[in-house]
Amino acid sequence: MTDSKQTLQLHFQLNGRSIETECEAQETLAELLRNHLNLTGTKVSCEVQVCGACTVLVDGLPVSSCTLLAYEVRDRNVLTIEGLAKPDGTLHPIQQAFIDEFAFQCGFCTPGMILATKALLDENPKPTREEIVHFMDGNICRCTGYVSILHAIQKASKLLEK
Ligand code: FES
Ligand code: FES
Repeated sequence: MTDSKQTLQLHFQLNGRSIETECEAQETLAELLRNHLNLTGTKVSCEVQVCGACTVLVDGLPVSSCTLLAYEVRDRNVLTIEGLAKPDGTLHPIQQAFIDEFAFQCGFCTPGMILATKALLDENPKPTREEIVHFMDGNICRCTGYVSILHAIQKASKLLEK
């Protein structure tokens, strides 16, 4: 009997640092981040690309890390929630806005929400309410009722303007 697991060498940029590691051919990016790189800020819930909890940015675009194979990020740039704050601990304005507007309760959806917000505001710094609702369609929250999240995104847009 042969071992069906194939180990691959993997190089990519993670939160501004060069990473050399190994992954299995079937391993998802979320599994690599959480289980091998100890970056547990990325959450996993549905595992079928529906809820957005596992959202990270790859080359600046939001992706569901639960369904992206780790090997697919070779030589690409990955940003997780751990890479947003400054090295001195100062929170990114989007993180601060989520705190200021009480935009979470259990917090399970929050890393994905914040990274999706970053992708939105990088592309469209002053989105309308409707544009925010449309863009955030793939991120589900079971707790907040969404109004506070909407307010946080609007506040983040203003903070980033300054
Ligand atoms: S855990 Fe990836 S989209 Fe839900
Ligand atoms: S704060 Fe609990 S799922 Fe969003």
